[in-house]
Amino acid sequence: MTNPGLFSRRAVLKLGGLAATALLVRPFGFVQAAEPGVAEKASGLGRVARSKGVFFGAAVQHRLLREEAAYADALRAECNILVAEGATKWKALRPSPDRWDFSGTDEILRFAERNGMAMRGHTLVWHASLPVWAKDAIATGPKAAHGLLEAHIEKLVSRYKGRILSWDVVNEAVLPKDLRLDGLRESPWLQALGPEYIETAFRLAAQADPKAQLVLNDFSMQVDPIKAKMVLDLLRRLKEKDVPVHAVGLQAHLHTRQSFRSLASFCKGVRELGLELLITELDVWERDPPQEIAARDQLVADKVKAFFDVVLPILRPQQILTWGLTDKYTWLANRESNEENPLEREARSLPLDERYGRKPMWTALHAVLSAM
Ligand code: G3I
Repeated sequence: MTNPGLFSRRAVLKLGGLAATALLVRPFGFVQAAEPGVAEKASGLGRVARSKGVFFGAAVQHRLLREEAAYADALRAECNILVAEGATKWKALRPSPDRWDFSGTDEILRFAERNGMAMRGHTLVWHASLPVWAKDAIATGPKAAHGLLEAHIEKLVSRYKGRILSWDVVNEAVLPKDLRLDGLRESPWLQALGPEYIETAFRLAAQADPKAQLVLNDFSMQVDPIKAKMVLDLLRRLKEKDVPVHAVGLQAHLHTRQSFRSLASFCKGVRELGLELLITELDVWERDPPQEIAARDQLVADKVKAFFDVVLPILRPQQILTWGLTDKYTWLANRESNEENPLEREARSLPLDERYGRKPMWTALHAVLSAM
């Protein structure tokens, strides 16, 4: 099933991007005047993306929007879409069964809207980042689990109806090593509700915001042919049942030593299913990097270029988001597996360095977006 709303929005975006630099084009089909100076400041990747009718953006830590002016400035300069790195996860939103904390998501959304950017929602259903009380409640059985899922999606998606463009409805649902024939991960949701939890989540999200783009988000399809096939098979089953799934998010946490052996076939599969491809969490983990910074940065940029060299001839991703924007704040600096090599702890995985300078990865992304 396709989503005509999205296509018309995309057409509007494309027109708007070509026609106007002083106007910011909103993803919901209308154009509004930018705040003075915003369009001028946006000289970076977001501007190129906008001119091509696509989105470029990054995952955001809301606390830093307040605490560090340079962080907010960099997002304004480089992005036309944002996603919360943590604020829209269960753990942040649901401190206790009867309390919701929307503050982080609200703050990012306000910032995005003030600056003419769109926003993604990450994530409605995930095995991780669940507070203990929710894990316990899900484990009590299908009735409680369904009630929780329904209330969560209904309340969250309705609250941001028309303002969050695109939702990661189900995150990381496929895991070959759990050895199920259907490829699904043995998540708490699956254990309580069976495989149907996925379609239930998509249908609930569509009811709450019929115009939102609904996404199945997962990792490693670029390198793992078995997982890539399992994800495509899952998407096919969902489409056969008319489940409202519109796009697949390929997280794209790349490694410098990775070869993208299943990327082309995965992209072709997505194209055959008539789905949009989004690159939702791009960054590059450096395995045993060289000492010299310039050499490190070039390896990272080359990986990004090599990735899009495979994707672009097959599909044009509608959104590209990096998982963070600056090396100053990247989850890769904290990986336990980095302990063996201290250089990996100073991860240089993102388009801007720790002082917000543009790196070769930025240049690679600029070239990718310019070629779209
Ligand atoms: O907020 C607490 C803080 O109060 C405490 O002092 C600190 C001590 O460790 O922990 C803080 O919470 C951490 C949180 O990030 C905020 O920094 C959690 O422990 C930590 O588990 C959490 O990690 C996040 C992880 O998802 C789990 O939610 C990462 O920042 C985030 O980058 C990562 O993002 C995921 C995507 O959602 C899905 N795809 C993979 C990607 C990378 O793992």
